[in-house]
Amino acid sequence: MHRYLRKFAPLHPFAMSIQGLPVRPLLCRVVSRGYATSSAKYSGAKEAKQKPRPLRHSYFIGLCALCGLTGAVVGQLVEIDHSKLPNAFIIADIQKDLQVNFDFRPDLAPAMVRLAFLHGLGEALGVMLLPLEGTPAPRYCPSLTVGVEEPQSVVRSLTLGHKISHADTVTLAGVLAVEYLGGPRIHWRCGRKDERQRRREKGASASQPKVPLPSPLTGTLDEWLAVFAAIGFTPQDFVALLGAHGVGGLPYTGPARLSRTKDKYRFNNSYYRTLLATKYKPAAYDTGGVYVGVGADASKHNLGMLPWEAQLSTHPQTAPFVKKFASDEAEWLAHFTQCFTKLLEMGSQEHHLREYIPPPNLELVRAQVIAAKQQPN
Ligand code: HEM
Repeated sequence: MHRYLRKFAPLHPFAMSIQGLPVRPLLCRVVSRGYATSSAKYSGAKEAKQKPRPLRHSYFIGLCALCGLTGAVVGQLVEIDHSKLPNAFIIADIQKDLQVNFDFRPDLAPAMVRLAFLHGLGEALGVMLLPLEGTPAPRYCPSLTVGVEEPQSVVRSLTLGHKISHADTVTLAGVLAVEYLGGPRIHWRCGRKDERQRRREKGASASQPKVPLPSPLTGTLDEWLAVFAAIGFTPQDFVALLGAHGVGGLPYTGPARLSRTKDKYRFNNSYYRTLLATKYKPAAYDTGGVYVGVGADASKHNLGMLPWEAQLSTHPQTAPFVKKFASDEAEWLAHFTQCFTKLLEMGSQEHHLREYIPPPNLELVRAQVIAAKQQPN
């Protein structure tokens, strides 16, 4: 019985639609027999005069019920290995779309890495940091997520076009942005669900995180270490993750945007090297609390740090790792890659996550993406 079902289950309309086969036209043909039989076409003149039969909804409903029932029975009896099913989206195409955005606006690449981090942090703490776009739910700690609108709108258009969940898109875009900036290829698995996020959104105003989130500017290093410890990261992991601050900028947007390193579009260990080589102090002008680097070289390159970050190179729990990662880039990259993957998988159940398998019918999927892009949002 099982062998029989295993053989024929893929022919079930549901299974076929997963595989991207043209189920609809097939079903329509079958169903149309129930609406007006074609016997008139093939039989004598008497039948030819017959009027077409009226629609037989009962036939259609019966067919649907039968399909559902078969699906339910097969689902119970046949064990489907989801990890072997191909995905409906093409990573290479998402990467191409992102690259177009990044080539046009390079600042979106670091912003995308940050967005992925914020998504992971929200999932780990069980709070809404980034609401799904189009739903005006209140956010937790809005000061931490200032300026995420632009990368979020890119994520939204990718989600709509490529038939991929919002959570998978945010995390994948972060991973691809690291690669775009010259960083390592990070192991990424798909299968994140958006329902969890939507449900949380409903109770967002009421939900409190496992541990309170300090302000990004006035919070202390100890407070941030405690947040990361609560979600399963050691001080070494925390320092390794912060290496991503080597790319992108700081919140101050005065005459020149401050950055933490001299080359804000290169993903390397310069964050640690700059931290060790530079002294920081509160600025003489209003930077909204961001510290600036001391000395001619630091001011020439508009270097700055968040106040608690400036202490990373002297704090007993973090200083050894700043030194280690500054002197050994390979060691940092290995640690960063591992921790970033862990962060991006936060909040997802292990049995939902699986390796990406490209769809077998690339051209069909591409045609659907083009059609989705042409539709108004
Ligand atoms: C300790 C927790 C962290 C805090 C409080 C924090 C805070 C901030 C702030 C305030 C900014 C400036 C945003 C702006 O331009 O307005 C920023 C930028 C950034 N953060 Fe973090 N961050 C933290 C951890 C991380 C981690 C773990 C990552 C990645 C693994 C990350 C990635 C980034 C990136 C790439 C940028 C540059 C974004 C851009 O230029 O648009 N951050 N972060």
